[in-house]
Amino acid sequence: EKWPYRHYMQKEIYEQPTAIGETLKELIHPAYRTISIRQNSAGLDLATIEDITIVACGTSWHAGLVAKYWIEQLAHVPVQVDIASEYRYRASPMRKNGLMIVISQSGETADTLAAMRYAKQGGLQVLGVVNVPESSIDREADATLHTYAGPEIGVASTKAFTTQLTALACFALAMAKAKGVLDAKQEQGYVDELLQLPAKVEQVLIHDASLEAIARELMHANGFLFLGRGTCFPIALEGALKLKEISYIHAEGYAAGEMKHGPIALIDEDLPVVVVAPQNSLFDKVVSNVEEVKARGGRVLMITTQGQAAGRIPADYTIPVVPCGEFVAPILYVIPLQMLAYHIAVLKGTDVDQPRNLAKSVTVE
Ligand code: F6R
Repeated sequence: EKWPYRHYMQKEIYEQPTAIGETLKELIHPAYRTISIRQNSAGLDLATIEDITIVACGTSWHAGLVAKYWIEQLAHVPVQVDIASEYRYRASPMRKNGLMIVISQSGETADTLAAMRYAKQGGLQVLGVVNVPESSIDREADATLHTYAGPEIGVASTKAFTTQLTALACFALAMAKAKGVLDAKQEQGYVDELLQLPAKVEQVLIHDASLEAIARELMHANGFLFLGRGTCFPIALEGALKLKEISYIHAEGYAAGEMKHGPIALIDEDLPVVVVAPQNSLFDKVVSNVEEVKARGGRVLMITTQGQAAGRIPADYTIPVVPCGEFVAPILYVIPLQMLAYHIAVLKGTDVDQPRNLAKSVTVE
């Protein structure tokens, strides 16, 4: 039942504090507050893994793109991320001590399952990140990290995505520990950031009414650009996908630094630009990218850290996000984008939970 919500998607957006909390429960030791990812009986020896390939489709692929930044930065293990339907036909060389991470909400996506079987045949160990227990991917993977989003009914993935990110963040920490490159104090810091997430997500959800008002202003645009850097680059891709699939407005996500290599030619007052810009080491670079957009008459919505001097934010609209560590920022910053897409779709009158041409579980190739 979706009551008191109007749509399942809206309900699922609001379930994220709980879903993330439930997922963390399985990955963080309650008393010691340390990462303790339990693997199934096949057991993976993370210390021996030298190379990681992540494979998924759609929103789950975006989760994989974020995980690449985390795993490479924290554990210093090289990661490649592939779309499942590309990987399986690409004859990518498989390293001897390689791990494949397969990310799938449903655990049944045909291309993802096929890519996984192909990798297993080639000798890779496989770790699943799966929301539906006993699904094909859960059963066939050597080990699984479960996400505890609960059933996701809206076709547009929301809580499944943020719980995938939560599980992958814990995996990156576990990998770094296994490699001996994360000390106990650093681990505590990251774990604290993760444990604060459910409360911080609540503080992002309070911007719902502001996002609805902004949606009203922007809903008539024919196209959108979403920009971000670092771990917020895949979040920009995800924001664009959410908007496309439920509002049918064309949208593209770009790495902010790529603007001047082409897409800036599109900028005018009819193409809103949504910028995902937490205040972090990359913030000043993003601001200069946004100034280039403003100089060309673009309308800018900036999702950024609250409490900054207004003069520092060159935007027409701002959503101020509660301060958080750089590590967990992508998990918080995707939420305003989910709400923006939701409100634009509702205002346009599309079928939010069952967008045209889409199915919840894509079991054909
Ligand atoms: C987008 C969306 C899809 C799925 C994709 C993979 O909102 O839901 O892009 O993410 O079809 O599905 P799973 O994760 O079930 O393999």
